[in-house]
Amino acid sequence: MSLTVDQQKQAAARAAIDYIENDWVVGVGTGSTANHFIDALATIKDRIDGAVASSEASAQRLKAHGIRVFELTAVGELPIYVDGADEINANLQMIKGGGAALTREKIVAQCADKFICIADESKLVRVLGQFPLPVEVIPMARSLVGRAMVKLGGHPAWREDCVTDNGNWIIDVHGLTIDEPIKLETAINQIPGVVTNGIFALRPADVLLLGKTSGVEVFK
Ligand code: 5RP
Repeated sequence: MSLTVDQQKQAAARAAIDYIENDWVVGVGTGSTANHFIDALATIKDRIDGAVASSEASAQRLKAHGIRVFELTAVGELPIYVDGADEINANLQMIKGGGAALTREKIVAQCADKFICIADESKLVRVLGQFPLPVEVIPMARSLVGRAMVKLGGHPAWREDCVTDNGNWIIDVHGLTIDEPIKLETAINQIPGVVTNGIFALRPADVLLLGKTSGVEVFK
C-alpha cells in the first residue's frame, strides 16, 4: 500500500471519526482535508446532533450532506474540533489560513475541548514558516500591517481577489523562520488592524492524525 497525498488526507480524516461520540455537536474546519472529514462525518450523521462550521464553504458542504449546522453562539463550548493545517510541528503548533478561514477556525478551535489536526505527511515540518503566514487584516490597515511585517523580517504579499467570510483581506507573509511561535503569534496580534494571524500556537492541536504513504500515524 502506498497512499497518494489525497488518500493520506482522506485516511487521516476517516481516522478522526473514531474520536466522535454519540450526540455531539462537532466543530468542523475548512479545506480539502476538512472536506474529506465532512464526507466521513456524513456516514455517521444519524448519531451526532450536528456541527459548527469554521467557514461558509464548510457550512454549505455539511448542509448538502443533511448535517445540521449550528451557530457557535447557540452551542457555546464544543467537545471536539477537527481541521487541517498548512504546516504543523512536533509540538502540534500550526500555520493555518491557506483557505482564508483562519479567524473563524481559531475561534471555533478555542471553544473546543479537543483539537484534532488531520493532515498529509507533507505538512509535518521541523520549523514553521516555509508556508507563507496568512494574516487577516481590516482592509484600511493593509499597508500599516505590511510595514510592520517587514520590520519583523517578513516579505508581505497581498492576496488579491480574496475577501474573507468576515469581509476582510489576507496578507501572506513570506520568509519568516518561526522559532518562537507563541511569541510571534502574540506580537502580530498586537498590531492595530490585524484581526488574527495564522499561527496556532497559543492553542495548538491536542492530537495529530498524520496520513502517510503507509497509513495513519497518531501524534499526541
Ligand atoms: C484553511 C486552512 C486549512 O486547514 C489549510 O489551508 C489546509 O488545507 P488543506 O486541507 O486543503 O491542505 O487553514 O484556512
